[in-house]
Formats: sequence, structure tokens, C-alpha cells
Amino acid sequence: MTSNGQSIGQLRHEPRVLLGPGPSNVHPRVFQAMTSPILGYLDPDFLAVMDDSMELLRHLFQTKNEVAITLPGTGMSGMEASICNVVEPGDEVIVGIHGFFGQRMAEIVERHGGTAIRVEVDFGDVVQVSQIADALDQHPDAKMVGVVHGETSSGVGQPLSELGDLVRSRDKLFLVDTVCSLGGSDIRVDEFNIDICYSGGQKCIGGPAGIACITLNDRAMSLIESRTKSVDTWYLDLALIRKYWFDDRAYHHTAPGPMVFALREALRMIQEEGLQERFARHQRCGDLLKKELTGMGLELFGDPAHRLPMLTCVLIPDGVDDAVVRKRLLDEYRIEIVGGFGPLKGKAWRIGLMGYSCQERHVHYLIAALREILGR
Ligand SMILES: Cc1ncc(COP(=O)(O)O)c(C=O)c1O
Repeated sequence: MTSNGQSIGQLRHEPRVLLGPGPSNVHPRVFQAMTSPILGYLDPDFLAVMDDSMELLRHLFQTKNEVAITLPGTGMSGMEASICNVVEPGDEVIVGIHGFFGQRMAEIVERHGGTAIRVEVDFGDVVQVSQIADALDQHPDAKMVGVVHGETSSGVGQPLSELGDLVRSRDKLFLVDTVCSLGGSDIRVDEFNIDICYSGGQKCIGGPAGIACITLNDRAMSLIESRTKSVDTWYLDLALIRKYWFDDRAYHHTAPGPMVFALREALRMIQEEGLQERFARHQRCGDLLKKELTGMGLELFGDPAHRLPMLTCVLIPDGVDDAVVRKRLLDEYRIEIVGGFGPLKGKAWRIGLMGYSCQERHVHYLIAALREILGR
């Protein structure tokens, strides 16, 4: 049974206002794109959509990289692909960890036979450039430095520019996870010396879950293509996948057409809005939410200098039942917000304003609902 009393067989749930850490709401144009007629994976019209997506991705990643492509699967396929293609058994990778997804990055390095050098700070803080410099001094053979930009678990954003300069000066690869933030924050892949950057469709990009995007520069691609040992997964082998996106157009997997169409439409909408206008919208709505929450007497979590615009972590006031509030928001207002995890489990709410969900009227609606429920 769904919450509006229908059996799952006739599932027609009511739309939600999705204000969690993703997925976010999807614009009708993106839905419509998903219902475009299915095309074969080598149909000239499909190849044209792929080429267009690459151009749009270069624009979004702010890069001139040739490789700016989509991958089947959620954001995790971007993380897994970034790591498994680079890491060979015994390789050291320095991972800056300021929350749950950084921990996951380190775990994946180890699953692919690498050694993760963890540079860890508390949830809510950011990793200092000096800490990564020290780790590089101690591990001069490390192949790559990886960080998460927007930590969806804590609502804090890792500064990238100085870190990128440091990593490039030591001639290592710089890997950045932007699943939470791409499309809502100014991530300049080339300017920040990022060698590998990935994201997922369903957050600030405004597309569906189930499609990832990734860009790699020539430094990263040539390292991958000169490996002596094959990548330990076939499905995410980027050297093989590249052949499908470029000259050979060699079959690798059946591209998930509706997802590709949807992502491309979301990317077109980003281009139409303008990157700076879009970042400003995320900042404006994020600031408004934070102002309204603190105006209600609630306390925000995380380093104030580095709070993300698109994901706000707010502490649950004493005596308030986390589950009851979230259930009432969902049942009575059809608003989704999500609880904290790790050290914030039961202690914080995570409120997202991402992509099409990022609208001032959503902030006002949520605040009105919270005021009613909390009696503030
Ligand atoms: C920062 C970050 N990285 C990676 C992921 C994994 O993405 P997905 O859940 O789409 O696989 C998420 C998802 O929330 C995320 O927030």
C-alpha cells in the first residue's frame, strides 16, 4: 500500500517536494525527454545526442577535456570508475576525508588493491591543504589525491583551488567527487587542476538517478591507457568505454537511452539558465533557508565558512522526535527531508535545495510546515 492508500500494483503516488540530499525534483522537460522514442545505441540520432551531451558536459565541468561523458549507473559508478581505472595493486592514494563519502572513496581504493592514506578531519570540518601536503611528503610515491567536494553527509564543501595547485605541483592526479554539488557550485575543472571529476544526475544537475557523468584530462587518460595490467572491472573500463564515445563507436554496453535523453535535457536547461545564474540561485535559496532556520532558533551544523548552498545540515532541537517530524512532513505536506547519518544520526536533518527543487517558494513552504509541526 502507498501512503495514499493505493495498492502497489496501481502505483500512482502523489508528487513530493524533494528537499533531501537527492534525488531532487525533475523539471517536466526532463521527464518529457525520457519518453522520447527509444533509439539503438548506434543510431545516428543517438550518436548525435551523445556528442551534444559531451559538449554540454564540458560546459558544466568548465573544461576543454575531450573525455566528458556519461556512464550507466548512479553517482557511485563515477566514483568506482575514477578509482578502479587508476589504481593498480599496491598503489597509494591519499584520500581527504571530511565525511561519509570520503570514507567510501578510501574503501573503494582498498577494494581495488590500493592503499588508502586517510587524511581525516571531523564531520563538519574541511581538510587543510597543509594536511595533504604533509601526507604527500610522507608518501611521495602516492599516485593520486582524492577528495569529495560537497559532503552530502555534513553539508560542508571542501575548497578545491589551492589543493589542486598543490597536487599538480607534486605531479599527482587530483580526483574530485562533485555528486552533491555539480550544477549548483562553481566547479572549474581546468582552472582547479582537477584531473578526474565525476557527478551523478539526480542532484543539482536536475536529472534522474541512474546516470553518472565524468570528465578526465589527457594526463589521466594516458595513465589509464598505458596500464600494464587490465582494469579489474570490465564494465567500467574507461579505455573501452572511450571507444564507444569516440572514433570507433565500438559497442561496449547498450546505452540507457531514456537516461541519456533526460540528462541531456537537464544539461540543456543548465546552459540556458547560465552557470553563474544557476550558482547564484543555489546560493540565494541556501542563504534564505539558513536565515529562516536560524530565525526559528535552530542551530546549523558545520564550519560556517564552508557550508554548502545546496545542502544544509541543521541540528534537531532537544526533545524533538526526528522520525515524527519527518513523517509528518511527508504525510501532511508531501515534503521530504532526510535525517543525518554517521555521527549525526538522529541529531540532524539534511535539507537539500538542488536543481529544480532549489526554489524560494520551496523554502517558504518547508519553513511554514516546520513552524507548524515544531510550534515555533
Ligand atoms: C558526495 C556523494 N558522492 C557519491 C554519492 C553516490 O551517489 P549515488 O547515490 O548516486 O550512487 C553521493 C550520493 O548521495 C554523494 O552525495
